[in-house]
Formats: sequence, C-alpha cells, structure tokens
Amino acid sequence: MISENIYPINCHSKADKEALLKQKGIVIWLMGLSGAGKSTLGTHLAERLYQKGFLTQCLDGDNLRSGLNKNLGFSEDDRLENIRRAAEVAKILADSGVIVIASFICPTHKTQKMVREIIGNQDFIEIFVNCPLEVCEQRDVKGLYAKARAGIIKDFTGIDSPFEAPIRPDFVIETHTENLESSLQKVYDFISPYIFYAS
Ligand code: ADX
Repeated sequence: MISENIYPINCHSKADKEALLKQKGIVIWLMGLSGAGKSTLGTHLAERLYQKGFLTQCLDGDNLRSGLNKNLGFSEDDRLENIRRAAEVAKILADSGVIVIASFICPTHKTQKMVREIIGNQDFIEIFVNCPLEVCEQRDVKGLYAKARAGIIKDFTGIDSPFEAPIRPDFVIETHTENLESSLQKVYDFISPYIFYAS
C-alpha cells in the first residue's frame, strides 16, 4: 500500500535514458518449469544482445533467491512475494532504459497476472518456455526432480506444487522440439522490433 506520506521522486525520464543508451527499456520475461531452459535461453539472449551493443540485465530465480529474496521459500505466499520483488526490480531497470531478461517459473496465473500489472503492457514481453514435465524431469540438470520425487524437497513445482501454463503469452518457445540456436533466433527475431531505438 502506498502511504499518503510517501513522495516518490524521479530524475530523468525513461525516454531521456533510452535516448542516452539508444535502445528501448523493456522486460522480457521467460516463464516455465524448472529445467525448461529459461536461464539457458536468457543468458544466450543476453550474450547475443551484448555482442550487438545492447545493455541488458538478467534477473534469475536462483540468483535473486541468493540475495534480495534469500528470506523466501517456495510456499504460495513466498513465491508471490519473490515474483513481486523481481517484477518491481525489473520495472526500475526497464525505466532506466535497460533490457531486462527475467527467468522465473511464475507458477500460477496469479503470479503471471501480477507481473504484467506491475510492469505494464507497454514494456512487457511474456514468453512461455514450454517443455513437458516428463522432459524437464528427465533432463534434471540440477538433480532437484529426483530429490522432489524422493520427498527430500517439498513443494516442488510440477511435482507437489502446481504449475499453471500462461494463458496468453506473447510468444511460446518449445525447448523439447527445437535446439537452442533455433529457439534463440526465434526469440531474438520476436523481441528485436521492441528494443530498437528510433530517434
Ligand atoms: S518461483 O516459483 O518463485 O517463480 P523461481 O523461478 O524464483 O521460482 O525459482 C525456481 C528455482 O529454484 C528452480 O529453478 C530451482 O533451481 C530452485 N528450486 C528450489 N526449490 C524449488 C521448489 N520447491 N520448486 C521450484 N523450484 C525450486
């Protein structure tokens, strides 16, 4: 809740900062199950954009949960707070002209809706990194699905905690049917018109 005694300040507009950086500040949000490929796609997209001279910042569930969000777990309320803080940080960065690449599961329609509301339609691209649970579980890059099945980790998304697929994502990538290079190219082509700065 915004207190009546709080007076937010803002020095330089988003447009001023975009003009300085010669790029548009937006948030590209990758959503999907653990192991779907969000972080891999996100870091490769950041590298591609860096090579082309764009300033990006990756925000990732595991990274934020190691710092800003380290007091949060995986209950429904904690996930909501995790995503709320991530979205607020993403918004601050995008308002500074930065291209934000956010990779978070965003497991429920409630979290997905909240992200869009905080950032605003104008600066938000929602990408569903779609991959069937069986494939994510088979990949099990971090060994977490095995731990969840063994009951060592509780409330694991897709196992004993829900995952609701985004309803109307702006773009969908299917990482089980295409390779990284192809997924990356598709995402890059899709986001390009939104980041180029026309003076
Ligand atoms: S979210 O649900 O709040 O959006 P977030 O994207 O921040 O999740 O973090 C997900 C990452 O945390 C996973 O990729 C995985 O490495 C790790 N993790 C640890 N425990 C869990 C759990 N119970 N459920 C999901 N991911 C978990």
